[in-house]
Amino acid sequence: MDESNKEAEALRAEMLDRLRRIQGHLAEDVAGAMSVVPRHVFVPQVSLERAYGAGPVVTHRDEQGVAISSASAAGTVAGMLEQAQVRPGHRVLEIGSGTGYNAALLAHLVGPSGAVTTIEYDTRVADAARHALSAYGAEHVNVITGDGTLGSVEDAPFDRILVTAGAWDIPSAWRDQLAPGGRLVLPLRLRGLTRVAAFERDGQALRSLSVAEDGFIPMQGIGAVAEQNVSIGPGPDLTLRVDDGQPMDYAALAQALDRAPSIVWTGVSAPWAWTENLDFWLATLPGFCRIFVDQDAVAAGRVPRPKDSWGGSWGVFSGGSVAYLTARRTGGSDDMPMLEAGACGFGPDGTKLARALADRVTSWKREADGIEITIEAWPKGDLPADHEAGALLVVDKAENTFAVQISERTASVKA
Ligand SMILES: C[S@@+](CC[C@H](N)C(=O)[O-])C[C@H]1O[C@@H](n2cnc3c(N)ncnc32)[C@H](O)[C@@H]1O
Repeated sequence: MDESNKEAEALRAEMLDRLRRIQGHLAEDVAGAMSVVPRHVFVPQVSLERAYGAGPVVTHRDEQGVAISSASAAGTVAGMLEQAQVRPGHRVLEIGSGTGYNAALLAHLVGPSGAVTTIEYDTRVADAARHALSAYGAEHVNVITGDGTLGSVEDAPFDRILVTAGAWDIPSAWRDQLAPGGRLVLPLRLRGLTRVAAFERDGQALRSLSVAEDGFIPMQGIGAVAEQNVSIGPGPDLTLRVDDGQPMDYAALAQALDRAPSIVWTGVSAPWAWTENLDFWLATLPGFCRIFVDQDAVAAGRVPRPKDSWGGSWGVFSGGSVAYLTARRTGGSDDMPMLEAGACGFGPDGTKLARALADRVTSWKREADGIEITIEAWPKGDLPADHEAGALLVVDKAENTFAVQISERTASVKA
């Protein structure tokens, strides 16, 4: 073995140690595949350290510099594979070949008796994936250049379908091409919030067995949905990302930051990691959206800091008013600060919106801290009345009606 292969092997071992440490567990078969498949072969444009580092490796950008393809972070890849539970002999479809790394892991997991088809939208990306898969020795992976929204009728049915780009809906092709007892794993966007869900059929519906929080490059092609990103203020200070076609009054919103904000504190304090599923709890409010807050505008004192240090928050808008979650330090350490949640509102109804957000945070603390969510996907319009009545959130998309159900956390890990 030459020096660089030895170094790559050592870095692969480090990567696996890190994943075990951070995630607390790593399925044996997934760890086995990740210890064998040389990730660096699929991202030849970066150093070995970067290839085996913790983050994603962006490989392609569009003319505006927006990332359109990447090797997902190793933790994301491992998490999705664990949710998918791929077994020897399985027929697997991957949507979003990217670098080909995940397809190579899938080929390892299904073994010689299984089959892997992967579909990539971008021709250049697909060519690079084919090249890397062949350099690794997995020429038998079938790389198709095309729109994964249509699946691959020729290769169906599939025991597993893994989607590695953010999807707004579940196209009928994926349902139809799933074998009986098959599992579909995808990052699903609902009201701008992404959850990687592993679905299996349950009668007419698909029901999630596990749900994990993560972020993904959005789907292109037929299944793409143009997100509305509406920026307001001089920085611009706030950018509202509005999903699922909620109507907006742009002209009125443009005036929202003209007045000083009103802030409502909630009295709800917790460590930084306290907000699990609070996003879905808040998403039931009308006008819910993600809000990105410009750090310079915070530093200049024009707008309060957002809930998260990286600039993200959740909020609501209505007419010419907007409110979002803010936070203030109440104790703890720099590594694990205690933060009190608050809501700041701008515009004529800013105080009302801030109060509605703050009340929802308080009710989350009282009723929903520690809840688990399950996502059901029903063919559009077929959501039974009792499921609708019990749901936290119902979101209608082009092909499906999604119902987010909540339950008490179970001690066991569902997978
Ligand atoms: C995060 S990357 C995938 C990472 C990849 N699985 C890997 O192991 O490197 C997402 C990929 O999905 C692709 N993509 C986006 N929309 C698609 C579509 N409709 N059909 C197929 N691929 C798509 C993008 O071009 C991009 O390469």
